[in-house]
Amino acid sequence: MDLHQITQVLIADDLDFAKLQQAVLAYRQLLTQQNQLISSTEESRADIELDTGKAIGTTWAALCIDDLVRTKRFVKGLYEAVSQLLYKKEGPIVILYAGTGPFATLALPLTTLFRENQIQIRALEINPISCQYLRRLIVSLHVEGYFESIEQVDASTYSIPKAETIDILLSETMQRGLEKEPQVAIMCNLVPQLRHEILMIPESIQLSVGTILYPDEPAQPVIYQPFFSVFQLDKECIRKQQRSDGALAFPTQQYKLSAPQLAHSKNLVLLTHISVFGREKLTPGESGITLPVKLPSLQHQGEKEVIIELVYEGGKDPGMRFREVI
Ligand SMILES: C[S@@+](CC[C@H](N)C(=O)[O-])C[C@H]1O[C@@H](n2cnc3c(N)ncnc32)[C@H](O)[C@@H]1O
Repeated sequence: MDLHQITQVLIADDLDFAKLQQAVLAYRQLLTQQNQLISSTEESRADIELDTGKAIGTTWAALCIDDLVRTKRFVKGLYEAVSQLLYKKEGPIVILYAGTGPFATLALPLTTLFRENQIQIRALEINPISCQYLRRLIVSLHVEGYFESIEQVDASTYSIPKAETIDILLSETMQRGLEKEPQVAIMCNLVPQLRHEILMIPESIQLSVGTILYPDEPAQPVIYQPFFSVFQLDKECIRKQQRSDGALAFPTQQYKLSAPQLAHSKNLVLLTHISVFGREKLTPGESGITLPVKLPSLQHQGEKEVIIELVYEGGKDPGMRFREVI
């Protein structure tokens, strides 16, 4: 399979799992054949600890490609976003891609669908090994003309030159529950520097508290049942939370767990829903980045109702903090 055929599977409307698996395997082989980087050395496995979270090492960033449904939904979402913009204006559509990893996995397939005068990519990546790999890869695949620049910078503090020229901001620097990695800090740094109408991918990431319902029949899938939404990362939330000293600050909010919800108190989880773009979504459990995160068991399970407090905190170990209010 060549990149064009791989791309056709990635942007197909239907999800044929066997075909997708084959296409992603071929995609990975294509990306690694020039250079055996992903021969995992200690250096390539090393994460970079930032004040805004962890930037995962080159080996781990490369492996993200194998999160099949994630890879498909993001590539298709990006394709839809570019197509929508090309209806309205002439290219090039400029994509700021923050956290490319060694492959720029989510954007490279678009080089088989659009010309260089239709899309231009500005790549940001903190990891020097990933940056170096990407620079060589695009030359070996003859797609360097699609890349306006590749910069080795921290996207959570980066000042964007010529910010008004950017049309799409793309970043997938997250883990389930928006924990550990700096997705929130990156979006909160970059979005306010960009035009209001830029398209942000993912458009929104929603966290909710809920439970997992296990079916009676083992063959049936588990059901993820959200109770209430506790955090939503979208353009509106990002523009609201800006503080003058630049630090992330989100409101602490209290929620009431009712008696029926308390019946599930041992199985409380944080659920992640991602709206990638348009109809492209990732629901809880569909991808590694939407797996449920177990919340601490409640101390007051005998009560009629329990108040819990949640806040999203930035910093070196970002994530949702959970507390029972006594
Ligand atoms: C989860 S990987 C995803 C790689 C690729 N975009 C994909 O979707 O397969 C995240 C990448 O973002 C990079 N990254 C994380 N934080 C960053 C930051 N603050 N600035 C620039 N790059 C960052 C990591 O080094 C890693 O290569």
